[in-house]
Amino acid sequence: MYTQLQQREMDSPPVNVATLRRMKADREPIACLTAYDASFAMLVDAAGADLILVGDSLGMVIQGHDTTVPVTVEDIIYHCRHVARRLRRAFLVADMPFMSYTTPEQALGNAVRLMQEGGAMMVKLEGGAGQVSVVEHLARHDIPVCAHLGLKPQSVHKIGGFRVQGRDRSAADRMLEDARALQEAGADLVLLECVPNDVGGAITRALDVPVIGIGAGPDVNGQILVLYDILDITQGRKPRFVRDFMAAAGSPAGAIRAYVEAVKDRSYPAPEHCFS
Ligand code: KIV
Repeated sequence: MYTQLQQREMDSPPVNVATLRRMKADREPIACLTAYDASFAMLVDAAGADLILVGDSLGMVIQGHDTTVPVTVEDIIYHCRHVARRLRRAFLVADMPFMSYTTPEQALGNAVRLMQEGGAMMVKLEGGAGQVSVVEHLARHDIPVCAHLGLKPQSVHKIGGFRVQGRDRSAADRMLEDARALQEAGADLVLLECVPNDVGGAITRALDVPVIGIGAGPDVNGQILVLYDILDITQGRKPRFVRDFMAAAGSPAGAIRAYVEAVKDRSYPAPEHCFS
């Protein structure tokens, strides 16, 4: 019955929010990857990834859409449930899709579904200062939250394309203020997408909670990439931060292991994967 107490005695107990905070304090890089099904979830977990995200990127890499906008709560629950079945150690985070957190009450209802029906341990939402009341409401109900800042793909039609964020001083300062406000509101984790190295480093140093980056440079507390990008399944022009781990590894399991090792030994991201 007291599974959690027994797990504490294991060599590699399951990752939780406290583990992620401890890793930040110990300066141990947090290796994160997306996954959308049970088979890949098993490989990612076995490779030693600390966190798995069932991202709304599934709209693009699984469903074939051009953006993440069409993804629904049902879609995330469907994939999350399959991923959850094969996890032993990794911490499972689920994306809150476009327009699924427009009010605190709607956000709470959907977050509860992602946790109860999908098996998620944390929900991620894209937001700035406008999401403070939503994050406060979730945190008041003890729902772990990851706040996604920088490039917010759900806003692609508003910002006019996928591009680096926070390049000018005022935008970088606003992002830092938003990150502080979201932490204050109760966010347990921040994810920064597509920002210059100095912005990634400054936000990471300013926050107590861990910061995970995708195209946010080497000075954040952990890295995340989309699984299909590291396996070289994604075709066409890829973002600068993508590294193909498949070519050298020769198998999906080898590529995922190589990615986790590269995050842990800090050889990923290299300068060619970063923005200045
Ligand atoms: O949906 C997703 O995969 C993401 C990435 C930026 C990690 O949010």
